[in-house]
Amino acid sequence: MKRALVTSATSSIGQVIARTLATAGYEVVLHYTSNDELASKLAAELQADVLQADFADKTAVDAFVAQLQSQPKFDVIVNNAGVSRRNDDKNFNEWQTLFSINAITPAIIMGHADELVSDDGAIINISSVYGGERFGFVEMKAYDASKAALNSLTRTFAKQLAPRVRVNAVAPGYVDSRWNKDLGSEERQKLANEQLTGKFITPQQVADLVLHCIQNEGLDGEIIYLDGGQSLKTI
Ligand SMILES: NC(=O)c1ccc[n+]([C@@H]2O[C@H](COP(=O)([O-])OP(=O)(O)OC[C@H]3O[C@@H](n4cnc5c(N)ncnc54)[C@H](OP(=O)(O)O)[C@@H]3O)[C@@H](O)[C@H]2O)c1
Repeated sequence: MKRALVTSATSSIGQVIARTLATAGYEVVLHYTSNDELASKLAAELQADVLQADFADKTAVDAFVAQLQSQPKFDVIVNNAGVSRRNDDKNFNEWQTLFSINAITPAIIMGHADELVSDDGAIINISSVYGGERFGFVEMKAYDASKAALNSLTRTFAKQLAPRVRVNAVAPGYVDSRWNKDLGSEERQKLANEQLTGKFITPQQVADLVLHCIQNEGLDGEIIYLDGGQSLKTI
């Protein structure tokens, strides 16, 4: 049975990626950070192994990689973990935390691909439209810059790991996820209207594109925007 690792499988998007890969026949290994209850529930539902690690903590990341090294190799790794929040430009720790979770840990995982990923394997990084060249949310510079770094890492690791392992990124626009669930309908529609389509991207659309990246061997080193046309908006 093919094996897949999904980081932050307890996130809004991660859960759906994990379920989609399980349905596609993968034995899924779930990573999470703090949500023990959801991680256990998901593990039972998908009959999956579960690993806990805080990606902002170097010691925890080293221990996580060591745990992965002790397992059979993965056919697929989905670097889905990512935290978005406003950051104080003058706060070193905030920059460090966001970069550690969003870019450095995926880099460390990809850096171990020789030991962690099997031949003909695929790595998919979950980036964001905000990592794109012409994007920038002034209050979220660390998020945007860390996703831009993840895009760059996607390209350089694709070169390094070719032809054995393909590396691609999916860069969503606004996804209908837990952070916008509690907004009022007017505010939700305003965010949905950030997409040309006037609709949020769904977690299932992200998961379907992840599966497509795994299956389509013509894709390598690509940053694929799944943003309902958001990145075309100029005004
Ligand atoms: N939602 C969107 O609109 C959107 C748009 C573009 C890109 N993305 C990207 O999609 C991915 C998933 O986002 P999401 O919206 O599904 O997330 P989410 O529902 O907001 O959940 C956040 C996740 O971050 C995890 N997390 C928190 N601190 C962490 C740490 N120190 N180390 C590792 N993980 C940590 C949490 O783990 P626990 O559950 O265990 O606490 C949780 O699963 C991210 O890479 C995000 O940047 C999202």
